[in-house]
Amino acid sequence: MFRFGADYYPEHWPEARWELDAQLMQEAGFNTVRLAEFAWSRLEPSPGRFDFDWLDRVIAILHARGIQVVLGTPTGSPPPWVMAMYPDAYRVIETGQRVGYGNRREYCPTHAGYRERSRIVTQAMAAHYAEHPAVIGWQTDNEFGERCFCDHCRAAFQSWLQHKYGALDAVNAAWGTVFWSHEYSAWSQIPAAGGTIFPDAFGPEYHNPGLALDYCRFMSDQYVAFQREQVDILRAACPDHFITHNFMGIHFDRIDYFDLAADLDFVAWDNYRRMQWTFQPHVNPSEAALAHGVMRGLKQKNFWIMEQQSGSGGWQIVSVAPRPGELQLWAYQSIAHGADAIIFFRWRTARFGTEQYWHGLLEHDGRTGRRYQEIKQMGAEIARAGAQIYGSEVRAEVAILLDYTTRFAFQIQANNPAFRYAAHVQQIFQAFHTRNVPVDIVSTHDDFARYKLLVVPAQYVLDEATAAAVTRFVAQGGVLLVTPRTGVKDESNTVVNRPLPGLLAEVCGVEVEEYDSLPEGVSQPLAFADATRFAGEAPHAKVWCDVLRPLSAEVIARYTSDYYAGRAAVTVNQFGKGQAVYVATFGDAAIYDALGDWLLELAAVERGSAAPAGVECCVRWQGDQRLLFVLNHTAEEQGFSLSAPMMDILSGQTIDAPGVVLKPRQVLILSE
Ligand code: GAL
Repeated sequence: MFRFGADYYPEHWPEARWELDAQLMQEAGFNTVRLAEFAWSRLEPSPGRFDFDWLDRVIAILHARGIQVVLGTPTGSPPPWVMAMYPDAYRVIETGQRVGYGNRREYCPTHAGYRERSRIVTQAMAAHYAEHPAVIGWQTDNEFGERCFCDHCRAAFQSWLQHKYGALDAVNAAWGTVFWSHEYSAWSQIPAAGGTIFPDAFGPEYHNPGLALDYCRFMSDQYVAFQREQVDILRAACPDHFITHNFMGIHFDRIDYFDLAADLDFVAWDNYRRMQWTFQPHVNPSEAALAHGVMRGLKQKNFWIMEQQSGSGGWQIVSVAPRPGELQLWAYQSIAHGADAIIFFRWRTARFGTEQYWHGLLEHDGRTGRRYQEIKQMGAEIARAGAQIYGSEVRAEVAILLDYTTRFAFQIQANNPAFRYAAHVQQIFQAFHTRNVPVDIVSTHDDFARYKLLVVPAQYVLDEATAAAVTRFVAQGGVLLVTPRTGVKDESNTVVNRPLPGLLAEVCGVEVEEYDSLPEGVSQPLAFADATRFAGEAPHAKVWCDVLRPLSAEVIARYTSDYYAGRAAVTVNQFGKGQAVYVATFGDAAIYDALGDWLLELAAVERGSAAPAGVECCVRWQGDQRLLFVLNHTAEEQGFSLSAPMMDILSGQTIDAPGVVLKPRQVLILSE
């Protein structure tokens, strides 16, 4: 069933309050809460001494109100006694500093002692709650995080390399350690180095890119392995419960999220639109849409929102308050993109701790204010419409390839200070999103044949299997879009010994003769060969310009200035039954917007519903039944037209064709 609820921290409030909380939750239509992911000090106050009584009592109160429970394993924030037991379990950051106690996520995921404590507490919780009728599933840890560079990790990395390469000669050859005389003659000589030096920060050192990429992969594997130990325990003890983890959308790039998701039943994620770090009133719906797409793409499956924004976000700074209707709008947008559960973070605003200003649905003093009332209204709507929505699918004919190995490699070498992989993916995604065309985000392991249009953005590290799959996709009739810095590196993070875009040069019908990494502020308009087709203001080349030599490709647009004026900037190549488009500059979003209609036409993909700017339309399919989500992201009324009367399943009312007036931030879910 559709799950609706909040993240609840009963351990922060007097027990006498729990009953009222449960009543208010029930009145808001809640059927689910997440509990305990930060309650380790109350669950295991000292080594091996467990106390589940308080948690049992609160679960009983919730259950009596028809509310079921997702339990978090509490390993994301260890109590002091755990770290006192293992002072060497504190994570070491790349500069060599060891973090201290007092935040969370202090731990090294490799540390054997910490891993043991993680298994012990997970085992105890699993055994206690395996048969509990109110418990439906588990969240592992909380937002798995940052890399560690401690001695334990270094030793484990050396073993990981032995396992991967077998012999040191193979490591030396793969990384090219002859450069600067780095040839290793013993495994123990190999350092721990992520090389994530730019653009995030300068220093500490400029390591061999091959070594650094392997270290990033190794650290990702450490978190996957850490999680797997919890998953194995939970699966064995609680075979009827689901297991998930709360991921962090598109911006977090330290773990290969496809790998982390592989062991789970489904993905959950934490969706914040306005936070202290983005202190601005403007929210771009396309950014959330892409993040949802990434999260759906991790398992090609619907997901949960484990933390949906419930108020201003803030630790030191308080973000702009969500305007009336925004909390619901953002939650419905999550649903429109494939969420089968909305759990708000958090129930009540904390009075103490780092997150005092990360606002919950209730105020600090427990009052039910505007935010609670808005979500209560949504609860009534979900009670009406949830069953029809639950399990319905997003179906897409366009896919964008997302690759964490490439992301790691760009952390090591950004290529241009203004280049951001996630932002680049966003620019391309936005061209489809504004046309209301659904997009799937896929990994190198997905089957591309399901799609008509495949985007391969800056696929910097390109392995042979992926190149072959992409080539096959085009040969069989697909339309491909490729952008710069694709095919530059092999899996060892070594530059390929062939013209770029490397293994995709033939399919794209171009060779990169040379390239220009542009300084900030430098740009030049592109000139389209067919000016009538690409009307409007010319988009600009920015950040990066490949200077192309077309082999068999036709030129669609050219550069207009600098020493490569007149050279190809956008090309299309017929290859087999399909076509490959190469855009030779990163530019800005305007380039992909200018090409959007043409790309859809080439691939015979239909545009989505026509709607005014700021009105998003998404479709979920329940079998043959189409559910059309219409979301007015603006603060003004907007007109929208329908070809036939439809039923709004949220209100139960029929909406007459053709003209509909959407109220500010209104959401409709229309069924035929
Ligand atoms: C999430 C995290 C929560 C809480 C929230 C607000 O990233 O999972 O525990 O910290 O952000 O800061």
